[in-house]
Order: sequence, then C-alpha cells, then structure tokens
Amino acid sequence: MTASTDIHIVILAAGQGTRMKSRLPKVLHCAVGRSLLEHVLHSASTLSPATVTVVVGHEAESVERSLAGRDNVNCVVQSPQRGTAHALQQAEPLLVGRTGTVVLLSGDVPLLTGETLQKLVHTHQAAKAAATVVTAVVERPYGYGRIIRSRGRIARIVEERDASPTERQVHEINSGIYAFDAAPLFDALRGIATTNAQGEYYLTDVVAIYRRRRLTVETLVVGDPREVRGVNNRSELAEVSAIMRQKKNEELMAAGVTIVDPASTFIDSDVVVGPDTVIHPGVVIQGQSKVGAACEIHAYVRIADSELADKVTVLNFCVISGARVAEGASVGPFAHLRPATQVGQGAKVGNFVELKKTSLGPGSKAGHLAYLGDATIGANVNVGAGTITCNYDGERKHETVIEDNAFIGSDSQLIAPVRVGRGAYVGAGSSITRDVPADALGIARGRQENVEGWVTRKKKAPDKA
Ligand code: UD1
Ligand code: CA
Repeated sequence: MTASTDIHIVILAAGQGTRMKSRLPKVLHCAVGRSLLEHVLHSASTLSPATVTVVVGHEAESVERSLAGRDNVNCVVQSPQRGTAHALQQAEPLLVGRTGTVVLLSGDVPLLTGETLQKLVHTHQAAKAAATVVTAVVERPYGYGRIIRSRGRIARIVEERDASPTERQVHEINSGIYAFDAAPLFDALRGIATTNAQGEYYLTDVVAIYRRRRLTVETLVVGDPREVRGVNNRSELAEVSAIMRQKKNEELMAAGVTIVDPASTFIDSDVVVGPDTVIHPGVVIQGQSKVGAACEIHAYVRIADSELADKVTVLNFCVISGARVAEGASVGPFAHLRPATQVGQGAKVGNFVELKKTSLGPGSKAGHLAYLGDATIGANVNVGAGTITCNYDGERKHETVIEDNAFIGSDSQLIAPVRVGRGAYVGAGSSITRDVPADALGIARGRQENVEGWVTRKKKAPDKA
C-alpha cells in the first residue's frame, strides 16, 4: 500500500471557554461577522481535506446547529471534557484505519491563514514526521504552553501551570495547531496520563511520547506570531477582531478602495467593495454586504447584508439593512432602509425617510420625512415630504401601489390597500382611502374657508370674534 497524502482535519471545540463568562460557547463568539469556528473552517478549507471532524461538547447542540448545511463536516461529542488529548480521541472512530495527515486545529485560534496550514502540511510531509507543531516566538508568552528544546530540537511542551520558573522564561509557545501522521497517533494518545496541574489529558504530552519512541517531531515557527493568537477571554476576542479588521481594510485598500480612517472603519470578512469607492470614518459594513465601485459612503453609516451597485452615495447617519440600492441612487442623510427594500437606479431617498419591504422605482424621489412600507412605487414618482403609507390596520399589513410618474403631495396618508394610478396626483394633506385612477387628482382633506375681517373683529371685541 502506498502512503496516502490524504488530509483529515480535526477541530477542537468542546471546551466551555470559562474565561469568556458567557452562555454562548466560546467558538460561537463572532469576530468581524463570522464565528471563531467559521474562521477556522474557512482556513481549513484551503487544504481541501478528505474529512473534517469538529469535536463538540459544551453546548454541543448549538455548535452543531451552527454547522448545519455544511456537507463534509462531521461532529463528535466529547462529554465530559477531560482535556485536549481526550478531545482528539473522540475522533478516533471516524479516523480509524485512515492513513495520511491529521491536521489538528483549535476552534479558538481563528487567525491562522490557509498559507500557514499549507506550509505546515508541506513541512510535516517533507520531514516524514510523526508530529509537527506550529509554534511562535512571542513577547508575552503568559498562558500558553512553552516549547522546550534540547539541542535545538523540540523535546516536550510544558503548560504554563506546570512550568518551572525557568521554563516560564521561554518565549516560544505552542499554537495548539499540529499535523500528525495518522498511523501512530491514536495508539500514542492512549499513553497520555493526567499527572498535571489541571488533571487533564494534555495533547501536548504526545511530543515527549514520540521523542521517547524516537519518532520525528518537527516544528513550524510562524513568521507573524499574531496568527496563532488564541481567544480565551473577551479582551483577546477584541484584540483578534482588531487584527482581522485591519487585515480586511488593508486588503480593500490594496484593491483600490479609499478608507479615510481605517481605525474607525469596521468591515466584516465577507464584505465585497469595488474600486474607487470612498469610505468615510465611522462606517460599519456587515455580513454578506456588497458595495459597488465608485460609491461614496459618508461618516457613521451602518450597512448590513445589503447590496449597493456602482456610484451609489450614502450620506451620513444611515442604517441600511437587507436592502438593495441600484446604480447612481442617493440615500440619506438619516435614512433607514429596512429588509426587502429596493431603491431603483438614480432614485433618491432623503432625510428621515424609512423604507420597509418597499421598492422605489428608477428616478423616483422620497426626499423628506416619509414612511413607505409594503409599497411598490414605480419610476419617476415624487413622494412629497411627510408621506405615510398606513400599511398596518392593527392586525395585518396591506400593500400600497404607486404607479409610474405619480405625484404624492406632501403630508399625505395612503391608507392601504390602495393604488395610485399612473401619472395621478394626490393633493397635499390628503388621507387617501380609495384608489386614484391614472391621470386623476385624488384629494381628500377639509376644504379651506377664509373668514374675511375676522382678525380685525377679534381685536376690537375679543370675546365675540
Ligand atoms: C492549549 C494547549 C497549549 C497551547 C494553547 C494554544 C494543551 C494542553 N494546551 O492550551 O499548549 O499553548 O492551547 O492556544 O493542549 N478543548 C476540547 N476539549 C477539552 C479541552 C479543550 O475540545 O477537553 C478545546 C477547546 O474548546 C479549545 C481547544 O481545545 O478550542 C484548546 O483548549 P483550551 O482549554 O483553550 O487550551 P489552552 O489552555 O488554551
Ligand atoms: Ca485556548
């Protein structure tokens, strides 16, 4: 049988993450729009693994649920959680008899890049090693396992709590990421004991076991120690998020996006932004958002799961969520586009205008102080200041249709369900309860009466005016 180069990924994600002080399992905490576990899976996918196994335990169901719909990912449950070696042992039934390389990743080490993983596999396979440990030389090694070398080669790994004062001086740390030859691995794990400060089965002990058996153990020292940052508490979560954010901003700038103040710009990993778009300070772009080319996003705007085409302008202080904005449209300042909203080409949504589940056709304008909900609005419609679609009767939502070229006078209420026909006008201040036919004027307001001389009379005899 020829040796297989198959790659099997195991991700440890069973721990509680006590130091997070959270009801949510640690690996489901998010950084730049993805859970820590999703970040790890994302890097892992670059290895095109034959199998991916996630070891779950604490809040196993919610972690498993977060993985639903990913084919090629299996979960095994570790209960109770008795340490990292015990965690890996849970994957044995899925990997028994397999050959090739087992790449072990930690669900709480999300910055590791695909390139480093490829380097790991390459180093490991080239050296025909039984194990290869990813290490880093860091300024502050506190909390990490230390790499103890003898005559230059890795001899063992000692955890912070079990380390002697001299061992604690070592600045080379264990990342918790390894490549293992599948063949001797599970047998070696059975040789691990719990004689340590935490009374747990430490995977790190496998290094000393292999060295005793005269098997080759290699190390891969990463160039950028930030890559192996683990998340154990909320401060580390914030630090890791900041690193990811900076990386994302740098990628976008390298691709031609102007980010006026990267320090105050928060763009999630999956967001796409086209070249020559200018992003001003305080902008947050989240989730699966796409922003086209040559857009301008002014300060303090939040865009979530939305698509903006090219040449869109978003003025200050807008919230755009689950919406689509077509080319050349302008939104804001102070506008709110809510889910299932579409703003057409060249359309304009002005200050204090809220759109919900509404499509505003090309060239149409809603410039000031309007609520448009459950409405389908055609092309070149003018929606006057203060227009409200009354879409809710207390029990159900109803639709409003405004056809092309219609003109809705200011301060009108369109009481849905209702339709304003093509080219029709609605007089300002109307409460429209019935459909307005095409090209008609719909007007529904109290008639004005002028009482001649009323003021003069009132001043002369205030009580009788
Ligand atoms: C571990 C390493 C340490 C390394 C550090 C890097 C051990 C003994 N120590 O320490 O050398 O420097 O990672 O970040 O391996 N987990 C389980 N089941 C368990 C215990 C842990 O699935 O029973 C998972 C956790 O969910 C986590 C990962 O394993 O994703 C690491 O566990 P954690 O307790 O954070 O280990 P560290 O103390 O950080
Ligand atoms: Ca950890």
